[in-house]
Amino acid sequence: MTNPPHRRQLGPVLDAFQALLPRPGRAQVSSGHCRLTTDMPIAGAHSPLAGAMLRSLLSELLNDPIPGIPSNTTEDTRVLLTDGAEGHAPGAYTLRVSPTQVEITAGGTEGVAHALTTLRQLLPDAVHRRAAGPPPEGWRVPCGVVEDEPVFAWRGAMLDVTRHFFPKRTVLRYVDLLAAHRFNRLHLHLSDDQGWRVESRRHPELHTTGSWRTSTRLGPGGPDDGTPHGGYYTLDDLAEIAGYARLRGITLVPEIDVPGHTSALRAAAPLLGRPGEPQAVLDTVWEGGTSVAPVARTEAYLCDVLEEIIEATGAPYVHLGGDECAMDWWAEDPEVAAAMAAAGCTEPREMHGHFLRSLGRFLAGLGVRMIVWDEGHVTGGVLPDTIVMAWRGDEASGRAAATHDVVRSPLFPTYFNFDQSDLDAERRSEGGPITLTDVARFAPAPTAWSEEQRAHVLGGQFQIWTEWVPDERHLDYLAFPRACALAEVLWSGGVPDPADFDARLVRHLRRLDAMGVEYRPLAGPHPWQTGGTGVWKRSSPGRIAETRKWLDSISNQP
Ligand code: ACM
Repeated sequence: MTNPPHRRQLGPVLDAFQALLPRPGRAQVSSGHCRLTTDMPIAGAHSPLAGAMLRSLLSELLNDPIPGIPSNTTEDTRVLLTDGAEGHAPGAYTLRVSPTQVEITAGGTEGVAHALTTLRQLLPDAVHRRAAGPPPEGWRVPCGVVEDEPVFAWRGAMLDVTRHFFPKRTVLRYVDLLAAHRFNRLHLHLSDDQGWRVESRRHPELHTTGSWRTSTRLGPGGPDDGTPHGGYYTLDDLAEIAGYARLRGITLVPEIDVPGHTSALRAAAPLLGRPGEPQAVLDTVWEGGTSVAPVARTEAYLCDVLEEIIEATGAPYVHLGGDECAMDWWAEDPEVAAAMAAAGCTEPREMHGHFLRSLGRFLAGLGVRMIVWDEGHVTGGVLPDTIVMAWRGDEASGRAAATHDVVRSPLFPTYFNFDQSDLDAERRSEGGPITLTDVARFAPAPTAWSEEQRAHVLGGQFQIWTEWVPDERHLDYLAFPRACALAEVLWSGGVPDPADFDARLVRHLRRLDAMGVEYRPLAGPHPWQTGGTGVWKRSSPGRIAETRKWLDSISNQP
C-alpha cells in the first residue's frame, strides 16, 4: 500500500516491550540482546506439538529447517522451551530474554503459541514478511521479560463462510492473523440458507447440491447478478484447517446452524423440510428461510453429519446455531405435531428446545460441548454445560450468564460486518457504525452484573457475517484494526489507557503492513476501499442506536 495515512502520525517512541499488542500482563526491557542464528543450540522439555510450534517459527525466521529439539540442555543452550510448567494457567507464558538465552516457559501448548507470537513482535517488522531471512549476524532479540496470562479464556472470531464462500487459503491466512493477536478460537459458520459448506461422505447431496446457488442478490429486491456462487471444504480440508489452527494455539469451532437457517440443507434433503414446500439454496443473501422438521429422522441425519465433522476435526466444541428459527408450521404438520406430543411439548418453542437438547446429548456422548445462540437459551435448548453465544445485547447475555457459561458476541460492538464510521465513503453494509473506540470500550463482563454472572463469562469474539463481504480484501478491511482492539479487551481485560493503546496500534499497523493486511487506515478508507457510486455505495446513514433498541425488543423471543 502506498503511503497509508497513519505513517504521517508520529507517536511516542516505544521500546520493543512497550510496543506489544495485545498488552501483556508485565513486560520489562533490559539492556542487551540475544542473537537467533542458524547454528544455535535449542533444547527443552515439551510436548511434540509445542516442539513443532517452536521449530516452525524458528525455521521460518532463519530460513533453515530446524530438525528435532533435544530435551537435554547444555551450557550454551540458546533457546530453551519448557511446556507443561507448573504454576502457569492455560494460555499463560513467561518469556525471558538474556544475552545468552531466550527462555520460553508455558503451562501448555496454547501458552507456547502465545509466547512465540510475543517473541515475533519483539523482532523487527520484517519478521512478519514471508521468507524475510535473517540478517548476516542473525536476529537480535532485545533483552527483557514478559510474564503474561489472558484475562479471558475464550478469545475468538466467527467467520460466516455461507453468504459468501471463502476458500481454504483465506481461512488458513485468517488463522495466521488471529494467532498474531493471540486469539484462540476460530468459529466457522458452515451452514445457512445461502450455502452448505462442508463435505458429507454419508450424505453427499449436502455438498453437491447444498454448496452452491445460481446467483446472488444483494439485499431484498436487490439486483440479481446471475452468477453461480459456491464452494465447500472437504472433510480433509476441515481437518487441515483444524490442525493448522491447533499448531497456532487456536481451536476450530464448527457451526451447523439448525433448525432454522436451513434452506441449503433442505435443498439437499427436501424431505427434512415442510412437506410440499419448494426448497432451494437462497440467492438473496439478506433473507432467511424456514426450518427443518424437528423429528427423529432429521436428528439422525444431522448426527451423521456432526459425527463426520467431529471425526475430521477433533473439535471439542460444536455450535448448533438455534437462532432466528421460523417454526410456526410445526404445530400444523401432523408428523411434527405427533413428535411434539411424544416429547411432551405443547408449543413449537418447547420443541425447538427439545430438538437442540437431543442433538446436544448426542454431542456430549462424543465428549463434545454444545454451543447455541441465545435463542436456544430462551427456548430451553441447553444442557447444563452448554455455552451460550448471546448476540442480542447485554440483557440477553446477562440472562444467559445467570445460568450458563457465555461467550459474549453482542451485535454491538462485535459484529464487525457493520460500518466502521459514519463517513459516506464506507462501503454498503447492514448499518453501523461500530467504531474502533466502541470496540475498545467493550466490557465482556459488565461490573453491573453479579459475581456469578461475571464468572460465567468465558470471553468473547467478533463476528463477520458476509452478506456484504464478497472477498478477502473486504474481510481484511472490516476485521482490522477493530480485531486489534478486541484482542486487547479479551487478553488484557480492557483498554484503560486509550492513548497507550493508540500508540501501540500505530506501531502495530506496521506489522500488519508487513503481513499484507488491507486494514482500514485510522483516518478513513483508501479510495479503493470506499463504496464509490455503484452498487457498493453506502445506502443509508448509520442507525446503530435504533438497531440496538430493536435487538433489546426481541431479546426475549425464541
Ligand atoms: C445471529 O446474528 N442471527 C446470530
